[in-house]
Amino acid sequence: MNKIVILTGAGISAESGIETFRAEDGLWAKHRVEDVATPEGFQRDPKLVVDFYNARRAQAAEVEPNAAHIALGRLEQEHRGEVVVITQNVDDLHERGGTTRLHHMHGELKSALCAACDHRWAAPLVMAPHDRCPACAAAAARPDIVWFGEMPYEMDLLFQHLSEADLFASIGTSGNVYPAAGFVAEARRGGAHTVEFNLERSAIGNQFSEHRIGPASQTVSAWVEEILAR
Ligand code: APR
Repeated sequence: MNKIVILTGAGISAESGIETFRAEDGLWAKHRVEDVATPEGFQRDPKLVVDFYNARRAQAAEVEPNAAHIALGRLEQEHRGEVVVITQNVDDLHERGGTTRLHHMHGELKSALCAACDHRWAAPLVMAPHDRCPACAAAAARPDIVWFGEMPYEMDLLFQHLSEADLFASIGTSGNVYPAAGFVAEARRGGAHTVEFNLERSAIGNQFSEHRIGPASQTVSAWVEEILAR
């Protein structure tokens, strides 16, 4: 099991205190996706969208990585083979948990993007609509988040990692959103053993060879111990 590729979703940050999207009291119960997570929503009401991400950026700055993030950081440090984390999350808890080989396929709260020239810079804690780009000075700053209808980042590289995986783990994602929900099939095609970590089987649970049901802070820590003891 030398190359391990791990996909994470909102469930890995839940025990740190960041709400998920599709729980009863989740983000999509309080906000309409089309208003705060689409390019059209941003065009229609940039202040609503910028404030939505300001609130999530402030919340992410208040919470701490949990045992699952820290276990994945340890796995990367101590595993003999390659460990690559692909996250759908936009918080920085993986970084703060010690993971360095990390791909934010849906962008990140700590980054800002210029819609005019594609320049990226460290986002201020509070962004305002029409903030100016530090590179081209256009009033075209936006959160560096991949919205519905936009292409996730680094997809060719991510599919390369998936095809090389000996072991693929999916942690805390409902399997509702593609292309991430298609990663397990890609990893299986490359011959990987696949394991799903969740509180219950997800919408794509039947595609995994193994399931570890329970809170990620417990199940991921135990799994990492097992791997490092091999
Ligand atoms: N431990 C393990 N799994 C958990 C935990 C926990 N403590 N708490 C919740 N979960 C699981 C839930 O059972 C659910 O399957 O995490 C999953 C969270 O699902 P979603 O809320 O749909 O979040 P996610 O799968 O990351 O959403 C994917 O959708 O809205 C878009 O871009 C957004 O990146 C997001 C994408």
